[in-house]
Amino acid sequence: MKFFIDTANLEKIKEASKLGVIDGVTTNPSLVAKEGDVDFHTRIKEICKIVDGPVSAEVISLETEGMLEEARELAELAPNIAVKIPMTVAGLKAVKTLSDEGIKTNVTLVFSANQALLAAKAGATFVSPFVGRLDDRAHDGMKLVKDINEIFANYEMETEIITASIRSPRHVKEAALVGADIATIPFGVINKMSKHPLTDIGIERFLEDWKKTQG
Ligand code: E4P
Repeated sequence: MKFFIDTANLEKIKEASKLGVIDGVTTNPSLVAKEGDVDFHTRIKEICKIVDGPVSAEVISLETEGMLEEARELAELAPNIAVKIPMTVAGLKAVKTLSDEGIKTNVTLVFSANQALLAAKAGATFVSPFVGRLDDRAHDGMKLVKDINEIFANYEMETEIITASIRSPRHVKEAALVGADIATIPFGVINKMSKHPLTDIGIERFLEDWKKTQG
């Protein structure tokens, strides 16, 4: 399973990369906006220098032509760009063209298995089902990931599933159990995944015992 980090923050990306567990990055307009007054293209280029794997950068146009124009500009920034395209009819048309041009795409805001199926058939490199936002509405976000995984396996589709909108370590574990290719994880959740109170207690006890024997 691959882990992407879900942020546009350079420090967090650098810090998480040091752990050796980061295979890519996802951003979205809200995550970029959190960074304040940064130039979008400059920030994406900086991220691409830190991480070798796919870096998702999202278009904001709602029309196919506008999406294509933005996507081609983004794809020029670095070889590891995956252009994030919203799951709309206009978006599917853009994905088809970009796929023919050899530009990687990540179809975002996926909330149903049929949307994922359409995106895969249009040639998407990645689809991003948003589990947290479904759970927020009392739906079962991880069931969607499981269904998409089963459908893609049935037809040997190459599109990879990025479990997105992850809110907790539990989401990551469940994404791994249902066989998602990738989880894109906020920095705070990566930190939480490394922790267990019994680990801390164990370290404390070992050190106490060591001190006793060593005088
Ligand atoms: C990543 O690709 C998504 O944009 C992100 O995970 C959405 O997360 P949110 O639902 O917490 O905003």
